[in-house]
Amino acid sequence: MSDDATGAPLEPLQILSCDLPDPGATFDFGVALGRVLVAGDTLALIGPLGAGKTHLARGLAAGLEVPSDAWLTSPTFTLMAQFPCREGTFYHLDLYRLGHESALWELGFFDVLHAGGVVAVEWWDNFLDTLLPSTLVVRLDLVNDRPEARTLELWTLPTDDWEARVARLRRLRLG
Ligand SMILES: Nc1ncnc2c1ncn2[C@@H]1O[C@H](COP(=O)(O)OP(=O)(O)OP(=O)(O)O)[C@@H](O)[C@H]1O
Ligand SMILES: [Mg+2]
Repeated sequence: MSDDATGAPLEPLQILSCDLPDPGATFDFGVALGRVLVAGDTLALIGPLGAGKTHLARGLAAGLEVPSDAWLTSPTFTLMAQFPCREGTFYHLDLYRLGHESALWELGFFDVLHAGGVVAVEWWDNFLDTLLPSTLVVRLDLVNDRPEARTLELWTLPTDDWEARVARLRRLRLG
């Protein structure tokens, strides 16, 4: 993707960075983010094993008003799960065990991306060239000497409306 004025490639911008002191804070962040998501949004949840991507996704589901029993009864190790939610359908994918990009086609990944629901994908960074320009990248990291803490960063290209929604997200977290 390029800037129309200069033709130069657009670089992703970090639009939020915060400390999540414990798992509850990660869940609550997910709830607040889930509240500002709309149909058609795609999110890449990235970070090392155990960073809290699935934990955050559970919060997203709550913020998107997925019925809590639907999430709790879903199988743990699936490539893709889908749930009814406020915005239609919430798709939660984990590509960690996906061997090769061609398997994304078999999974129906590209259909899901354009199905008009909200899509959150763990380990999408294993297939970086398939990220959409509008994707919100949520990066979680472990913190040295603080086993219960994580850092979180949001990254997007500067061409979309995420910044306005992240401003709403900030207000939700403060209020
Ligand atoms: N601040 C925190 N936020 C999220 N999880 C935390 C935090 N502190 C500790 N944890 C623990 O870290 C683990 C995170 O597990 P989770 O399955 O969400 O990670 P993941 O990033 O999805 O891993 P994977 O790459 O294996 O899918 C949970 O056991 C959770 O309780
Ligand atoms: Mg996970």
